[in-house]
Amino acid sequence: MTGPTGGGHDGGVTRPRIALAMMDGLADFAFRPEHWARLEAVGELIDRRPLVAFDDDRAAAVLGQADVLVGHWGCPTLTAEVLALAPDLALFAYAAGTVKWQVVDAVWERDIVVTSAAAANARPVAEYTVAMIVLAGKGALLYAERERDPEVAVPLDPMRVGNLGKRIGLVGASFVGRLVIELLSAYDLQVAVSDPYLSADEAERLGVQLMALDELCAWCDVLSLHAPDVPATRHMIGAPQLAALRDGATVINTARGALIDHDALVAEVQARRLAAVLDVTDPEPLPAESPLRRLPNVILTPHIAGAMGREVWRLADLAVAEVERFAAGEPPLHPVRQVDLDRIA
Ligand SMILES: NC(=O)c1ccc[n+]([C@@H]2O[C@H](COP(=O)([O-])OP(=O)(O)OC[C@H]3O[C@@H](n4cnc5c(N)ncnc54)[C@H](O)[C@@H]3O)[C@@H](O)[C@H]2O)c1
Repeated sequence: MTGPTGGGHDGGVTRPRIALAMMDGLADFAFRPEHWARLEAVGELIDRRPLVAFDDDRAAAVLGQADVLVGHWGCPTLTAEVLALAPDLALFAYAAGTVKWQVVDAVWERDIVVTSAAAANARPVAEYTVAMIVLAGKGALLYAERERDPEVAVPLDPMRVGNLGKRIGLVGASFVGRLVIELLSAYDLQVAVSDPYLSADEAERLGVQLMALDELCAWCDVLSLHAPDVPATRHMIGAPQLAALRDGATVINTARGALIDHDALVAEVQARRLAAVLDVTDPEPLPAESPLRRLPNVILTPHIAGAMGREVWRLADLAVAEVERFAAGEPPLHPVRQVDLDRIA
């Protein structure tokens, strides 16, 4: 039903008709009873069984009625053909992080409001990052390896071990980067950020130093990446940036593998000059023979930093909140804008 503002794109839709689209079986886990109840309180669920494809008769029938589409992992792309099936669609609330591959120009041309749950997905990534920063600062990786094998040397300068006053360099004042800054404020650490879109005033407000990337690399003990994978960031951490890092520094990548030149990284970690914590790699997964799988100064995890297990309920919380706001005629919490697509994840 269309609200008082006609198209309803800004003012929302009173008791919107809600469709869902995601991979088969995900909704049973990703949405808790309270999420279903909240959706049913503000709108009408057209079909509680999410669409897994947009090219069958059920999809045509469901999309034909939908004011709101709640998407999640596995949601097919909203192409112009799909949009033609959904004449009333006014809100696409994506209950996961990166939404730019789900939408095409036609979505923006139709003025459909797009929201993402990247802000909620940022929380576990920031928690993982901070845990790794603290362990790296303590030299825990290398000491743990020596406990397994007493012959292993721990090549750490005692003056540089420990977390008092350590220098943490963050690349990207993203949702994740900002949350890392917030969580690190509980520690006795120095934090600096490199981000071409971050103003000096905003950096001051965040309580961090703003640095160019090369300056940041030369300054920090731990370099942690939180920028998006876009053409401008591909291999932004290459041989020169890695060479600029001080001996014993740690590189943490929870962003995307393409940000690091992996050949250059392998050379530095094989030489034991740097340590690395990699939740994402290029390629992903790494080939079985990659040295990054075996080196004791590398922690490798299989892209687990983002929401997993019970953490996915946070994503549903945020997407449902966007639907509630839409139904109440309130502006979205986290709108995604077409103009930002080349600088966001
Ligand atoms: N490992 C995981 O499971 C996981 C989960 C969620 C997100 N991620 C990744 O984490 C990263 C951050 O995600 P997000 O949602 O917080 O990002 P975001 O969209 O909130 O922010 C991206 C920010 O990066 C900054 N940026 C753009 N170009 C830059 C550059 N050249 N140098 C430095 N900063 C630059 C911009 O200020 C932009 O705001 C992304 O790479 C994302 O894909 C990984």
